[in-house]
Amino acid sequence: MQFDMDQLASAERYKLLVNTITPRPIAWVVTQDKAGHRNAAPYSFFNAMGSQPPLVAIAIGGDDIRQGDGQKDTLRSIRETCEFTIALVTEADAEKMVLTAIDAPVGIDEMELAGIETRPASKVSPPLIASSPVTYECRLWQFIETHPGGGIVLGEVLAMHIDDAVLGDENGKLRIDAPALKLVGRAHGAGWYWRGSDQVRIDRTAWPLDAE
Ligand SMILES: Cc1cc2nc3c(=O)[nH]c(=O)nc-3n(C[C@H](O)[C@H](O)[C@H](O)COP(=O)(O)O)c2cc1C
Repeated sequence: MQFDMDQLASAERYKLLVNTITPRPIAWVVTQDKAGHRNAAPYSFFNAMGSQPPLVAIAIGGDDIRQGDGQKDTLRSIRETCEFTIALVTEADAEKMVLTAIDAPVGIDEMELAGIETRPASKVSPPLIASSPVTYECRLWQFIETHPGGGIVLGEVLAMHIDDAVLGDENGKLRIDAPALKLVGRAHGAGWYWRGSDQVRIDRTAWPLDAE
């Protein structure tokens, strides 16, 4: 069956995309607005976008639930301060992460609500989620407005923190034991998540194909 996007409502387009592009990594984004209000929320339209400069992209939809300027708190804060942090989400933190997706009014600190501990970042004001084994300190690199109240945040990663427990050495090179991070990704539909515990190794083939 072919789906022509221009024949569909936005909610139908969303459904087709999120049920087919899976798993998606989850950025647990922490911001702090100029008044000092801290905010945390998960975003799974998220990925790395290159290393020169080191960029991540997060797509933030408009806010059509709360009365306000049509922007989610995360986007408003990022545009206001140009700073945010990202925590990657472990299986152990998954339920708390979901709780922070609550449609709380501006000024409610979802981290306090979910009992999430933080620690200071070194280059930006928003704090880091202490329980996460991988956190990024980011500065807004570019915002691309795609519709009223929403768009794509490109963030430059200024610093990255990785738990020493998953770092090692392999023939003099840094080795990261990624499976040990036990991260979750977003799966099909609302409420479903992926565990990264089922992996397959496929090595790349060198050219020429028949070289012995
Ligand atoms: C796992 C998960 C992933 C989500 N991903 C996105 C996303 O990529 N973009 C988006 O706009 N909202 C996403 N949401 C919804 C936001 O987290 C939700 O709207 C939240 O209330 C926004 O909070 P804020 O206004 O404090 O920024 C996601 C929710 C969950 C639970």
